[in-house]
Amino acid sequence: MTGTGADIQDIDTTRPHPARVYDWFLGGKDNYPVDERLGRQIAAIDGGAPKAARANRAFMRRTTRALAAEAGIRQFLDIGTGIPTEPNLHQIAQSAAPDARVVYVDNDPIVLAHANALLRGTPEGVTEYVQADARDPRTILEQAARVLDFGRPVALSLIALLHFVADEDGAHELVTTLVEALAPGSALVLSTMTADFEPENVHKGIAMYAAGRVTLVARSHAEVGTFFTGLDLIEPGIVSVADWRPESPSDGPVSLYGGAALKP
Ligand SMILES: C[S@@+](CC[C@H](N)C(=O)[O-])C[C@H]1O[C@@H](n2cnc3c(N)ncnc32)[C@H](O)[C@@H]1O
Repeated sequence: MTGTGADIQDIDTTRPHPARVYDWFLGGKDNYPVDERLGRQIAAIDGGAPKAARANRAFMRRTTRALAAEAGIRQFLDIGTGIPTEPNLHQIAQSAAPDARVVYVDNDPIVLAHANALLRGTPEGVTEYVQADARDPRTILEQAARVLDFGRPVALSLIALLHFVADEDGAHELVTTLVEALAPGSALVLSTMTADFEPENVHKGIAMYAAGRVTLVARSHAEVGTFFTGLDLIEPGIVSVADWRPESPSDGPVSLYGGAALKP
């Protein structure tokens, strides 16, 4: 495990944190009253928020399985990992390919505090946790290279991460820097919030996060498409995460677009 030395004392319980609000939506226990309060406020105006969190988690599972089992990828770099929620990405990847190597990255001290749960993988595989900020992609690449061979394909996942990074805060630059470092045959998987389906609720939610001093950005279908420039999107392309190869018929879109693409 590597990082900045942040520990449990760095956890700020006076204002809501994205990882903990998301944990509350998923029914987890690793959140504080301040997170639950914001989660409840958002769920009151947008009853679909917990459903969107669950659909997003299922999107992570389906894309990871597809990349490990169908595309044969054996290395995974997951940035914006979140508080562990079973099954975690390494468990999906290593159930398809026990030798899969996984590097997790997050900048929230509470994720670091729970990182041990992310490090229990198969004996054949490797899991590692790096405490770093997505807006510093070069540090992430440097740290990840201790476990991942960037000369071979890597699946880079930025799942429910980019809506916390505004364009003017370097969202596109971080994606470009990371994708440039990947070998041909690598993949980019991402999901990010949109107001295309339920504009009013999403904009109210953004205002509530802003009141808790958390930046949240909604992007249109075309804007999300620009993150995949130069890559070959895998079917079905960029769709609501609920509609990315659903295992059972989806009951309508949720307010997150998701897509997966391969680097030619
Ligand atoms: C909504 S959770 C998503 C968790 C997981 N990827 C999933 O989709 O189930 C977003 C995560 O991104 C992390 N995050 C937000 N901004 C970040 C940044 N600038 N650098 C690294 N992680 C960040 C948060 O701490 C949180 O754990």
